[in-house]
Amino acid sequence: MPPAITFEKISQTFGSYTAVDGINLEIAAGKFVSVVGPSGCGKSTLLNLAAGLIAPTQGSVSIFGAPLTGLDRRAAYMFQQDALLPWKTVLENVGLGLRFRGTFTEAKAHQWVERVGLSAFADKFPSQLSGGMRKRVAMAQCWIVDPDILLMDEPFSALDVHTRMRMEGELLDLWTGSPKTILFVTHDLEEALSLSDEVVVLSAGPASHIIARHPIDLPRPRNLMDIRTEPRFAELYREIWAQLKQEVLTSYAR
Ligand SMILES: Nc1ncnc2c1ncn2[C@@H]1O[C@H](COP(=O)(O)OP(=O)(O)O)[C@@H](O)[C@H]1O
Ligand SMILES: [Mg+2]
Repeated sequence: MPPAITFEKISQTFGSYTAVDGINLEIAAGKFVSVVGPSGCGKSTLLNLAAGLIAPTQGSVSIFGAPLTGLDRRAAYMFQQDALLPWKTVLENVGLGLRFRGTFTEAKAHQWVERVGLSAFADKFPSQLSGGMRKRVAMAQCWIVDPDILLMDEPFSALDVHTRMRMEGELLDLWTGSPKTILFVTHDLEEALSLSDEVVVLSAGPASHIIARHPIDLPRPRNLMDIRTEPRFAELYREIWAQLKQEVLTSYAR
């Protein structure tokens, strides 16, 4: 099978500013890959390219081997700020993607509301939910359309640390055993390590590029509550942080 996502010789400029340059990256189908890098280095830009929201200034993006020309119909996008419609209930918000595709059924929406543990809140509005619950709605919104690829941009960074760990666990539960590919962006190396099969480190911008790709050989299933205390986790953390730290310092200096 071709890679789920291929970035080939990507360069992206905004006006006279070169955000990323010379990005070559293949994300194998079914993998959970995280991209880390200092703030402003171009992480969201890579997701936007994979989503087809922007077209590369140079180079090309392919999805399962086919060059991407418009929106990436095989991908769902989860943003840092959830995009729930405040005037719609949990059930309606979860079913939005189906509505857009003309395949809405109440049963299917209910199934996903239940899957993310919100059955008792199906008729509530977003303002009546906690931060973690809103994230569950956002996850269900993505999963209900059965995408082959999930593009996740710092989806949990606004949550408190314990809620966040719980949501990370729920994400792994949904993904485990599914053939879906996840491209996950975070500035948090611990989060990237604990979830991923591979961690990609981007350099500080401008003209950010890939400085390293680290396979993460921590066994699955992973217990996110305890994984940070495992010796191998600490080893990987030290190794990758040494690189990331340099880029963060460079980025501060600029
Ligand atoms: N639409 C845009 N117009 C102008 N500059 C942009 C645009 N999108 C991103 N940038 C710039 O490109 C760089 C990378 O941005 P981004 O991908 O959002 O970084 P990250 O997600 O790693 O924080 C930043 O310097 C940002 O200001
Ligand atoms: Mg970003």
